Amino acid sequence: MQAFIEHLSKILEQRYILTQDEDKAPYLTDWRKRYIGKALAVLLPSTSDEVAAIVKLCAQNQVALVPQGGNTGFCGGATPDNSGKQVVLNLKRMNQIREIDIANQTITIEAGCILQALQEKALEHGFLFPLSLGAEGSCMIGGNLATNAGGTNVLRYGNARDLCLGLEVVTAKGEIWNGIKGLRKDNTGYDLRDLFIGSEGTLGIITAAVMKLYPLPVSQWTTLVACENIASTIALLNLFQKRASSLLTGFEMMTRESLDLNEKHFPHMANPLQGNSPFTVLIELSDHESEEHVRQLLEAILEEAFEVKLISDAVIASNLAQANTFWHMREHITLAQAEEGANLKHDITIPLSSLDSFIQQTDALMRDKFPGVRIINFGHLGDGNLHYNIAPPLGVDPKIFNEVNEKQIHELVYGQVERCKGSISAEHGVGQLKLDGLRAHKGEVAHELMRALKTALDPQNILNPHKVVSI
Ligand code: FAD
Ligand code: MLT
Ligand code: ZN
Repeated sequence: MQAFIEHLSKILEQRYILTQDEDKAPYLTDWRKRYIGKALAVLLPSTSDEVAAIVKLCAQNQVALVPQGGNTGFCGGATPDNSGKQVVLNLKRMNQIREIDIANQTITIEAGCILQALQEKALEHGFLFPLSLGAEGSCMIGGNLATNAGGTNVLRYGNARDLCLGLEVVTAKGEIWNGIKGLRKDNTGYDLRDLFIGSEGTLGIITAAVMKLYPLPVSQWTTLVACENIASTIALLNLFQKRASSLLTGFEMMTRESLDLNEKHFPHMANPLQGNSPFTVLIELSDHESEEHVRQLLEAILEEAFEVKLISDAVIASNLAQANTFWHMREHITLAQAEEGANLKHDITIPLSSLDSFIQQTDALMRDKFPGVRIINFGHLGDGNLHYNIAPPLGVDPKIFNEVNEKQIHELVYGQVERCKGSISAEHGVGQLKLDGLRAHKGEVAHELMRALKTALDPQNILNPHKVVSI
C-alpha cells in the first residue's frame, strides 16, 4: 500500500493526504459516535478532476472509498469499516459556488458547500434556498443529495431530490458524468440524476449540483399550539392544508416526553405553552402577499381550530426572535437526546391516515414490553415522518439497555411500520445501520433490482461497500 500512497501524492499535495491517527480520527466516527472505523488515509481533494484521478487509482488498486461530506449522517454511511484498507474521501475543500442564474432561478455549487452557506448565498441574491435541517451549519450539499435529506420545509418545497435539477458525478471508473443542467423538463431516457440522489455514495461521487432557488416570502408567522391527541394534530394539519394551502411551510410535532427531555438539558428551551398537553405542534405560514394577510389568515385558522376543539392553547410568535426560539426548541430535541446518551432512532414515514393507529399501538406495545422506556417521538408531521426514538428507563445505563433490547425494539417498531404500509427510512437513509432490515422491508424483487444497479455501476464494489445493499 506504500506504492498506492506514493501515487496519491501525484494527485494531491501531501498535506491533503492524512495518514496519521490523530489527523484521521475526526473523520473515522459518526456524529452520534455509534460507529468507529479505520482508514488507510483520509483524502481531501479540491476539484472534480482530483476526485476522478483518485477513484481511478483506487479502482486500479482495488481500494474502496467512503465518500464523506459534513459527517452529520445518522446511519453510519460516511464511516469506513474496521479493515483499515478503505480511504475516506472528504469533499469539504470542494466548496465553490460555480454560478447563480437569476433568470433560471438556479444555483450551481460544489458538493462540499455547507448547506447554511448555500442558504446565505441565495439570500444575498434575494432568493430562498428552502432545504433546512438542524445540521445545516455543518452538513454539505453533496451529503444532502446523497442522503436525499428532508428537514422542516419538505411539506412545501420537497426534499433534496425535489430541489435538484442537475448533477456532476464521478463514476466508479473514475469518469466524470457532466449532468450540470438547470432544466425543469428533460425526458431523455433513464434519469441518472435521480439514480445518484439518495444512493449514499454507493453508485457515484457527487461533485457538483444545480439546485432550484425560490422567491423569498415577504412574511412568515410561527405559532405553537397544544393538542390533546394525535387525531387532533392530523385534523389540524388537514385544516391548515385546506385553509392555507401552499402558505403552510412547517408543521412539526413534539410530544411532551420530547420537550421534557429538552428542558432537562436546555432549561432555557422550555415550552412556552403552559398545561403540559401531550402534543405540541409548531406551525409556520409563509406569504408572498403581505404581513397583514398572513397574520389574519393564521388567526382565523387558529380561531376555527379552537372552536372545533382541535387545540387547547396557542401562542403566536410576536417577532422574529421569538419565532427563532420556537424553532430552536424543536431542533434542540436531537441535541438533548445526544446529551442524554445513546438512544435507539427510528426515522419512519407512515401514511397520515394510519398515524393515529401506529402511535397508539406502538406506544402501548412498547410500554408493555419494555416498562419505563421513554418514547421520544417528534418529527415532521406534515410529511407523516416521525422520529420515533427510544431512550432507556431513567437510571438505566443506555449502553447495557441497548445491547439487550435493541434488536427487539427495532423489530417491534418496524413490524408496526409494515402493518401501516410505511417506510423504515423517511429521510436519514440506510447506511450501515439499516442494511439488514432493508431486504425484508423492500421485498426480494426490489432488493435484487437494487443489487443489479449496484453491480452494473460499481462492478468492483469500491464505492462505499456494505452500505445500503451488499453484493
Ligand atoms: P455525511 O454524513 O458526510 O454522509 C452521509 C452519506 O452520504 C454517507 O453515506 C456518505 O458516504 C454519502 N456522501 C456524502 N457526501 C457525498 C458525496 N459528495 N457524494 C456521494 N456520497 C456522499 N437529516 C434529515 O434528512 N433531516 C433532518 O431534519 C436532519 N436533522 C439533523 C439534525 C442534526 C442535529 C443532525 C446531526 C443530523 C440531522 N440530519 C437530518 C441528518 C444529516 O444531517 C443528513 O443526513 C445530511 O444530509 C447529511 O449530510 P452530510 O454532508 O453530513 O453527509
Ligand atoms: C430532526 O428532524 O430533528 C432530525 O431528523 C434529527 C433527528 O431525527 O434527531
Ligand atoms: Zn427529521
